[in-house]
Amino acid sequence: MEILPLVFTAIATVGLYACFYRWVQHRNLRGPRVWPILGSVLDVSRNHWRMHDYAYDYCKKYYPTYVTKMPGFNYVVTVDPANVEHVLKTNFSNYDKGEEQHLHLGDLLGDGIFNADGDIWKKHRKVASYEFASKGLRDHSFHNFKNNAVRLCQILDRAAEENKPVDMMDLMLRLTF
Ligand SMILES: *[C@@H]1O[C@H](CO)[C@@H](O)[C@H](O)[C@H]1NC(C)=O
Repeated sequence: MEILPLVFTAIATVGLYACFYRWVQHRNLRGPRVWPILGSVLDVSRNHWRMHDYAYDYCKKYYPTYVTKMPGFNYVVTVDPANVEHVLKTNFSNYDKGEEQHLHLGDLLGDGIFNADGDIWKKHRKVASYEFASKGLRDHSFHNFKNNAVRLCQILDRAAEENKPVDMMDLMLRLTF
C-alpha cells in the first residue's frame, strides 16, 4: 500500500478533528453563531457593509460584550463602559498593540506613540501629556474643536436634509487639521 494517501488521510483526520474540537470549544461563546472552520464569517460578511451598526445592534439585542470568531483570530466587541475603562485605563498594560501591529505599521508609524508599547509608549505619552497640560493650549484647542465640530454637524445636517452624499474622508481630514 502506498504510504502517501495514508499520510494525507491521517493529516486530514487530525485537521478535521482539531477544527471540530475548536468549534465545540467556541460555539457557546457569547457572540454570533459559530460554524466549524468558518467561525462567524457568514454573519459578519452578510453585514460587512454596516459593520458598526451591526455590532451596535448585536450588543443592544444580545450581549453588551461579545466575541466574534473568525478563522485565525477572534475579536471582542464591547459597549460596556466598565470594560472600556478596564482596557484603556485600569488594566491598560495588559493590552499591548503587539508585535504584529508593530511589524505591519512600522514603516508608516515607526516607534511613534500610535505604534509603541511598554516603556517607549510611556516616554511618548509623558512628552505628549506635558504638551497638552498647558491651560492656554487646552482652552485654545477646546474652543477650536468645539467650533469646528459645530460646523461639521451643520454640513452633515444639511447633507442629510438634502439627501446628498458627502466625502467623509475630506471632511475628517479638514477637521483634523
Ligand atoms: C486590573 O488592575 C487592577 C488594579 O491595577 C488589578 O488589581 C487587577 O488584578 C487587574 N486585573 C487584571 C485582569 O489584570
